[in-house]
Amino acid sequence: MAEARRIDGKAVAARIIETVKAGTAALTDKTGTKPGLAVVIVGSDPASQVYVGSKAKTANECGFTSIKHELDAETSEATLLDIVRDLNADPGVHGILVQLPLPKHIDEAKVIQTIDPDKDVDGFHLINVGRLSTGSTDEAFVPCTPAGSMLLIRDVLGDDLSGKTAVIVGRSNIVGKPMAQLLLAANATVTIAHSRTKDLASVCRGADILVAAVGRPEMLTGDYVKEGAVVIDVGINRIEAPEKGLKEDGTPKTRLVGDVNYAEAAAKAAAITPVPGGVGPMTIAMLMANTLRSACRSAG
Ligand code: GUN
Repeated sequence: MAEARRIDGKAVAARIIETVKAGTAALTDKTGTKPGLAVVIVGSDPASQVYVGSKAKTANECGFTSIKHELDAETSEATLLDIVRDLNADPGVHGILVQLPLPKHIDEAKVIQTIDPDKDVDGFHLINVGRLSTGSTDEAFVPCTPAGSMLLIRDVLGDDLSGKTAVIVGRSNIVGKPMAQLLLAANATVTIAHSRTKDLASVCRGADILVAAVGRPEMLTGDYVKEGAVVIDVGINRIEAPEKGLKEDGTPKTRLVGDVNYAEAAAKAAAITPVPGGVGPMTIAMLMANTLRSACRSAG
C-alpha cells in the first residue's frame, strides 16, 4: 500500500484561527465585546509553561484580551479557588483555563467544579461532561484535544462514521472518554482500550479509526495498525535524540514523538497525524473557538 496521507493539523488549525480572528473582529465591531481568555498555571513544569505560553500568545493574535496568572508551586488551594471565583465574576473574562496537572496538594476536581460552566472552555466541568455524554453537543463546551482530533477525522472520512470501528487507546477524562463520546455521536462503533486491555495490538488492528492517547513514546507500532486505517496520534513525548548531538550541558538533544511509531504506522494507514504538527495545533485552535463562542453567547 502507498504511504499514508499526512494529516496537516497545522494547516487546518491555521484556517480555524483565521475564522476566529474574523469572528472576533465582527463581534467586537457589532457589540463592543472583546473575548477574554484567562489561563492559570500553578508551578513551573516546563512543558506546561510552553503550552500556556502558546495559548496566551494565540489568544492575543486572535484579538482577545489574554490574562495569565502564573502562581508558584506552593500556592494554596484556597488562593487558587479565590482566583477562579474572581475570574467567574469578571464580565471581561469569557474563558477560564486552569492548566493541569496541578500540584498534589490541590484537589483538581474541586478547582474544575468551581469554574463557571459557561466559562469552562476546556469542557472539564461536570455540567459540560454531562451535556456531551447526553448528546447536547450544541450546548456543551467540548474538550479541545478531542474536538480538534474529531475535526481531523471528519476532514478525512466526512461527518457520518456509520459502520466504522473506532478504537481509542487511553481512558483519560481530558482525551479518551470525551473522544469516545464524540465518535459515538458520529455513529462510529467505539472501543476504549487501555493499559489493562488484553491483546491490545489485536484490538487496535480492528480499528478503522485508531486514536492513541496513552503518553508512551512510539508505543503503537505497525503491528497495531489495520491496513487503510485513519490514525490520530494525541501523544506528545520528548525523548532523547543522541543522533542530533549534545546540548551545551553535555546531555543529549531531544525531539518530540507521538504515541505511535510514525514510520511503521504510515506504511499501513490511509491517513495519519504527525507529531509535531498534527493534533497539537488543533488543541489551541479549538480553545480559541470555544472562547469566541463563549463571548458570543454572553454578548447575546
Ligand atoms: N493539560 C494537558 N492538556 C490540557 C488541556 O487541554 N487543558 C488543561 N487545562 N490542561 C491540560
